[in-house]
Amino acid sequence: MQSSKHKKSWWKERVFYQIYPLSFLDTTGNGKGDINGIIKKIPYLNDLGIGAIWICPIYSSPMKDNGYDVSDYNSINPIIGSMHDFKELIKICKINDIKIMMDLVINHTSNKHPWFMESAKSKNNPKSDYYIWRDAKEGKEPNNWAADCGGSAWTWVESRKQYYLHSFSKYQPDLNWRSKEVKKEIFSSIKKWLDMGVNGFRMDMGNFLFKAEGFPDAPKKNRWDNRKYIHGEHLYANNPGIHKLLKEFKKLLVPYDAVAFGEMYFLTPESSLDYVAYDRNEIDLIYEYPIMDARGNWTEVKKQVRLYAEAFKDMAWNTLTFSNHDSPRSVSVFGDSEQFHDKSAKCIMTFLLTAPGTPFFLQGEEIGMTNMKLSGVDELTDIKMKGIYKDRVSRGESSQKVLVDLSFWNRDNARTPMQWSDKKFAGFSWNKPWIKVNSNYIEINIKKQQNNPDSILNYTKNLIKLRKKTRTLIYGDFLPLCPDNWTVYAFSRKLDNEEYVIVFNFASQDNNIIAPEKIQNNKAKLIFSNYIVKYDVLDILYLKPWETRIYKAKKHGEI
Ligand code: GLC
Repeated sequence: MQSSKHKKSWWKERVFYQIYPLSFLDTTGNGKGDINGIIKKIPYLNDLGIGAIWICPIYSSPMKDNGYDVSDYNSINPIIGSMHDFKELIKICKINDIKIMMDLVINHTSNKHPWFMESAKSKNNPKSDYYIWRDAKEGKEPNNWAADCGGSAWTWVESRKQYYLHSFSKYQPDLNWRSKEVKKEIFSSIKKWLDMGVNGFRMDMGNFLFKAEGFPDAPKKNRWDNRKYIHGEHLYANNPGIHKLLKEFKKLLVPYDAVAFGEMYFLTPESSLDYVAYDRNEIDLIYEYPIMDARGNWTEVKKQVRLYAEAFKDMAWNTLTFSNHDSPRSVSVFGDSEQFHDKSAKCIMTFLLTAPGTPFFLQGEEIGMTNMKLSGVDELTDIKMKGIYKDRVSRGESSQKVLVDLSFWNRDNARTPMQWSDKKFAGFSWNKPWIKVNSNYIEINIKKQQNNPDSILNYTKNLIKLRKKTRTLIYGDFLPLCPDNWTVYAFSRKLDNEEYVIVFNFASQDNNIIAPEKIQNNKAKLIFSNYIVKYDVLDILYLKPWETRIYKAKKHGEI
C-alpha cells in the first residue's frame, strides 16, 4: 500500500472555498451573481489565503435546481456569464495560484437537455437509451421509489408511453450510465474543461450513477418511509459498475493533476475506502457526510472525525466541512449564533482548519454568515424544500410545524447573497437579488470585518496563514486527547519532532479540565487563540465560552 503521509498533493494542502455563483456577486444588476463577480473578488480570496475554489454549476441550465439541472455540458449559462468570462477566470486564478474545481452533475441532466427531449420522443431514436425508461407496472409506476424532492421517482411520458426515473425532481431525469454513448459524450466534455485549464471536479451524487439491477421495490409501502431505505440499502447508490466507471474517470484526470472529489452519501468510514483509498485510483477526496450530518452534535462530530482518521490512516486522505449549499449555516448549527456569534464562529473555523483533512468552507463562513428567518412558505426558493413541504403537509403534518423545521434546515439558508457591506442589498447587487438578503447584513458583513483586526474574517485569515506554513497541521498524525463526549476537547497533531495541541470549549458556558499531559508543566506555548489569555495556568485549562487555543509543544531545552 502506498503511504499517504508524505506524498504531497496540492489538494491535500490547500484550503477550499465553495462559491455559489448565483449568490456571490452580481456585476450586471440582474440580481444574480456571475462569473465576473468571482473575477472581481479573486484578490479578496487571495488575500484570505484560499488555495482552491469549488464553483457550483455554471453550465447552461433552465435553473430548476439552480444549475444542478444541466442542459448543455459544453457551454456556460448566459445568466452567469460567457465562455470568454470563464476563460478569463481561469487565467486570473492561475496568476493568483488559485485552483478551480468545477461541479460535475452527471447523475442526471435537465429535462430540457436535447438528449432528453430526443429520448422522450419514442422508443427508437438515437438517444432512446440515454435515460432510464421503464414500462408501467399494472398501470402504475415501475416501482415504489421516491424522489429526493418529494413524490414518486418516476414520471410518465405520453409520447413514449413509458416512465423515466428521476432521483431528484421530475425536471432532472437520471442518465443511463450503462449506455456507452452517455459515457463517451460526458467524458469528452470533461476533457474539454480540463484542456481549458480546470483543476478538478466535484462529482455530484458520485456514488449514485448506477441503480440496482431489476429496479426492485423498496420494502415499505409509503414512499416517504422508503426514502431512507432506498438510498441506504443501495437501491440507488453503490451499485455494480460504479467502481469501473470512476477508475476511468480518474484516468482522465491524472495527466492534468486534477482532483476528483466525490459527493457520496450513505457510506461509513470503512465503506468510503472502497472509493477513496489511494490504491483504488477512483477518487481523491470524499465528502464526509456523517460529520456535516451530525447537525450540531459535537460528540458525534468528534466521534466521526476520529473514526475517519483511524480508518483512513495512511490509506486515504480526509476532508472536513461544516456546511455547503445544501445545509444550514455552520455557525447556526454547530455554534451559538445568538449569544456567542463571534467566538463560536472562530471556534468552528479553528476545528475546521486544524483537524485532519482538506478543509472546505462555504462563501460567507469566513464572516460567520447565519441562517435567515423564514417568514412564510412563499419565501422558499428551493425546489427540494418546496417538494418536501408539499409532501409532509399532504401526509397530515401541520404546515406550521413543517415550516418551523424547514426554517432551520432549509437549503436557502446557505444561498442568501454574500454580505459584502452594509450598503443596500448587502453590496451584492444594486437591484433586488433573486433570493432574500439576510437582514443581519448591516451587522455581519465583509467590509466591517475587514476593518476590525479582531473579526472572524481576520482570525480566519491568520489561521489559514498559520496552516499554510505548518506542515504538521496538514500532514501531522491526529491523536484525540479527550473522550468524544467531553465538552472541553483537545487533540494533537504531530509530525516528526513537531507537535501542536489544539483545545476547544464547545459550549456557551465557562468550563475547565485538567490540561492534557502534553501541555502541562510548561511543556507547550500558546501560539493562537480566540480570546486574550491573561493567565495561562497550563495545568488546568480554564476556558471561556467557545474558547479555542493552539499550543505548540516546546522542543527540548526551549523556554
Ligand atoms: C447534490 C447537490 C444539490 C442538488 C442535487 C441534485 O446533492 O449538492 O444541490 O440539488 O445534488 O443535483
